[in-house]
Amino acid sequence: MNKSKRKIIIAGNWKMNETSRQAVRLIEEIKSKLSPAPCKVVLCVPAIDIPAATKAVEGSIIEIGGQNCHWEKSGAYTGEISRGMLTEFGVKYCVIGHSERRQYFGETDETVNKRSKACISSGITPIICVGENLSQREEGITEKIIGRQIEKDLEGFEKDDLQNTVIAYEPIWAIGTGKTATAGQAEEVCAFIRDIISRLSDQDTADKMSILYGGSMNAKNAADLLAMEDIDGGLIGGASLKADDFTQIVRYTK
Ligand code: PGA
Repeated sequence: MNKSKRKIIIAGNWKMNETSRQAVRLIEEIKSKLSPAPCKVVLCVPAIDIPAATKAVEGSIIEIGGQNCHWEKSGAYTGEISRGMLTEFGVKYCVIGHSERRQYFGETDETVNKRSKACISSGITPIICVGENLSQREEGITEKIIGRQIEKDLEGFEKDDLQNTVIAYEPIWAIGTGKTATAGQAEEVCAFIRDIISRLSDQDTADKMSILYGGSMNAKNAADLLAMEDIDGGLIGGASLKADDFTQIVRYTK
């Protein structure tokens, strides 16, 4: 299947950056530099920025995403955010299982699975993050780690669910370190992920799934990464906070 038939997505992950006012200013700057793109452009912003951000992107191609979503509809879960809170503002994407959540906030494959299913049930596409750390890569067990994450994170997903899911391959050693995976390394793992999806479901579903790369993607290395057959876009942290860099990355999807 031709890559051009898949949805290409450039998603910014703002993490815990930008207050609402700063978010609006940054969005205005990004909008002024964004040329019409043949891809989806998503900004996953802090939850509290969502109301202002969704207003700021009105009339542009940018969509606003979340960074977390609880599996229950409501209840005693202090600090969490529900799908209804996201969908009320038209949020259609949500980062789930980022390595920072797994590392600092006790996120597990089980909770990633529950959060992702909750998203899908409300029409939100989860962007599920998987990735190995440096010692796992050096030990040569990258595929074993990624394979396990994918199988557990997607447990119980029907074909329809997979069609509404995006995977982001984010090697932990490349996140925020300025050390990017080479295009070859990233392609190898993204192709491996597609292969697992085809085994969990079928080839057609795997061929249609958008698989992103994330980890120090920037205006300098994005062109090489995005040219790869199995890399259908990027999840971009640091460079998504710089309007010039982010919009340059979007331009490379042409
Ligand atoms: P980075 O972050 O681009 O700053 O490495 C990517 C991510 O964590 O999603």
